[in-house]
Amino acid sequence: MHRWRTIVEPFRIHSVEPIRMTTVEEREAALEAAGYNLFNLHADDVMIDLLTDSGTGAMSRDQWAAVQHGDESYAGSPSWYVFLDAVRELFPFEHVIPTHQGRAAEKILFSVLGGPGKIVPNNTHFDTTRANVEFSGAEAVDLVIPEGRDPSSTHPFKGNMDLQALERLLGEHRGAVPVVFMTITNNSGGGQPVSLENLRAVRAVCDAHRMPLFLDACRFAENAWFIKAREAGQGDRSVPEIVREIASLADGMTMSAKKDGLANIGGWLAMNDGALAEQCRNILILTEGFVTYGGLAGRDLEAIAQGLREVVSEDYLRYRIRSTAYLGEALDAAGVPLVKPFGGHAIYLDARALLPHVAPLEYPGQSLSIALYREGGIRGCEIGTVMFGRHPDGTETPAAMDLVRLAIPRRTYTQSHIDYVIEVVAWVAERAAQLRGVRIVEQSPVLRHFTARFAPL
Ligand code: F0G
Repeated sequence: MHRWRTIVEPFRIHSVEPIRMTTVEEREAALEAAGYNLFNLHADDVMIDLLTDSGTGAMSRDQWAAVQHGDESYAGSPSWYVFLDAVRELFPFEHVIPTHQGRAAEKILFSVLGGPGKIVPNNTHFDTTRANVEFSGAEAVDLVIPEGRDPSSTHPFKGNMDLQALERLLGEHRGAVPVVFMTITNNSGGGQPVSLENLRAVRAVCDAHRMPLFLDACRFAENAWFIKAREAGQGDRSVPEIVREIASLADGMTMSAKKDGLANIGGWLAMNDGALAEQCRNILILTEGFVTYGGLAGRDLEAIAQGLREVVSEDYLRYRIRSTAYLGEALDAAGVPLVKPFGGHAIYLDARALLPHVAPLEYPGQSLSIALYREGGIRGCEIGTVMFGRHPDGTETPAAMDLVRLAIPRRTYTQSHIDYVIEVVAWVAERAAQLRGVRIVEQSPVLRHFTARFAPL
C-alpha cells in the first residue's frame, strides 16, 4: 500500500450531505449580516467548513449502529458501562465522570481546584481551559518550550513543556499550584504534539513537587501517532500501548470526545484521587446530570465508546495525519507562511507574516479568515489577538501569534475538497497586500471571539 503517493481515505461514503454552492456576492451579504464574525454565519452559507474539528466529523456505520444500542436508563444504563470500559481500556483511571463536552469537565475541575491566588501551568491552555481557570479567579500560565512559540521552528515536539520554567514556577509558588496540565496535542500552539520523553520528565518534576499531573487529552490519538512516527524507539509500539503509557504518567484528565472520541458530542473528567472525584461528582449532579450519564444520552455514550475503538486504528491515523499534511505541503509549496511542522488536526496560516502591513491590533488573522470566506466560502478560525489579546482587566496586547486555523473535520472532506481549499488559499495569499485590517465594534468581556462584531478598516 505504501508504494503509492495518493492518500486513499480508509472508508467509503455511505450517506452524503449536500453542500450549497454560493457566490461572492451572497457571501459578502452574509459577512455583513454576521458582523464579519464567521461564528455568526448560517452554516448553510459555508461551503467548506474548517472552523473546527470539534464534533463536526462523520460517524462510522458502526457508531450509528451503536447509537441504536443506546439505553436511556437514568441511572446505571448499560450504555454507561460500555462507555466506561472503552474509556478505561485506554485511560485506566479509577474515577470517570461523563460530561457533555470538554469545557464542562474543565468547569467542574477548576471549580474545585481553582480559585483566587492559584496558578495553573499548562504547555498552552486552550481558550476554554484558560477561561475556566480565570473564571475561578486563578491564573493560567503557558510554559511551552520556546520553539513552540516560533511558527517557523521545525522541532518535532513543539508542544513540549519547558521543564526549567515549570521547575521555577513550582519552586517559587509552592502551595499556589493545585495541578499541572499538559495539552496533547497542543491545539493553541499549532496542534503540535508532546513527546513521551517530555511527559515522563514533567511527571518527574511533578513527583519532586508532589504535584498532580492532568492531561487535556482531546487529541490523544493524534499525539500518540506522532510519538510512534517521530520519537526514537516508539515506532514498533501499538497506538493503544502508547496511549496507555501516556495515561499511566498522569493522575487524571479532561477530555472532549468531539475530537478523538470521533463523536458529535461528549467528554469526560477522570482521575485517581477519590476525594477529588467526590467533590467533582457533586458539582456534576448540580450542573450536568447523574454520575452515569453526565450531560449525555445513552446513545452518545455508545457512539463515543465505538469511536474510541476506531480512533486508535493505524489505517485511520495514518490517513488522518497524511491528509492534513497534504494540505500543508501544497500551501507551503505555494509560498503561504504556515506553522510547521504541520499539526495533526489543522493547518495554521501565519497571518501576521502574510499580512505584515496589518498591525496585530487590527487583527490580521480576522482579516485573512474573512477573505477566505468571501473568495471561496471557506470558514477558518482566527487564533490570535482576537482570541487571546484581551486580558481579564480589560487591557489588550497582541497575542504571541496571529494565526488562521484550517481545522479538518474527521473523515468528512475528500481530497478534491482539500484541493479546492488549496486553490482558494493560494489565490488569496497572492493578493494579501490588498487586505485591510478590521476593528471591533462590539465585544463581550470573556471569550469575545465567539460573539464580537467587526467592521472593515
Ligand atoms: N481542550 C482543547 C485542547 C480543545 O481543543 C478544546 C476544544 C477543549 C479543551 C474544549 O472542549 O469544545 O468539547 O468543550 N476545542 C475546539 C476547537 C472547540 O475548535 O479547537 P469542548
